[in-house]
Amino acid sequence: MLTEYHCHALPGIDDGSDSVETSLAMLEMMKEQGVERVVFTPHFYCHREKSVERFLEKRQAAFELIKDKSPIKDMRLGAEVAIEHGISEAENIEKLAIEGTKLILMEFPYREYKGWMSEEIYNISAEYDLKIMIAHVHRYLPYYSKEELENILATKYVMQINNEAFASWSEKKIAKKVITSRTRFAFGSDAHNISDRKPNWDLLQKKVKSDAIDISNGIIERYAR
Ligand SMILES: [Fe+2]
Repeated sequence: MLTEYHCHALPGIDDGSDSVETSLAMLEMMKEQGVERVVFTPHFYCHREKSVERFLEKRQAAFELIKDKSPIKDMRLGAEVAIEHGISEAENIEKLAIEGTKLILMEFPYREYKGWMSEEIYNISAEYDLKIMIAHVHRYLPYYSKEELENILATKYVMQINNEAFASWSEKKIAKKVITSRTRFAFGSDAHNISDRKPNWDLLQKKVKSDAIDISNGIIERYAR
């Protein structure tokens, strides 16, 4: 079951889809490209939100607007959680895991790597028995040294790869390394709209063999609660 693990297709909740119309167009595009299951991952920035509970209410309200109209029926709610100082101490943080699973999608900051970042994610995984999924692991290339990135890649976390990595000369190397050397990875479009950051599952299916896509598709079942 072709599974979208990372997208911003809920209406009006982050810098992704700005309307119900756009959300439905994004989902329609995914469906045409073969997607059968979608995980919604709106951005969660701890310092901007009043609380996890409030964020979950907003997410649910956005979901209600599209859930009966979506052309893809298998939908899960999740979040893309920014790694910030103290995030592991935030109340109810475990509720941001992908519905029905132990998986939590986490995004590193786009600046110099610091040890506290890894400490925060380790604390979250240990405290709540969650499996960390590192968002678009190839996108930190300009900010982290080769060694720092190697250290992240050496962890047992699930590596999430954006489909577009396979069309980029530099990011492709990391993406290919992940899918040939690991057994825990998941693909996502990270789509935000229907123009410059649209669903791109056609690209992935052209560039990547189906056995790798099967591994990605099975990650939800593998880490089911
Ligand atoms: Fe994202």
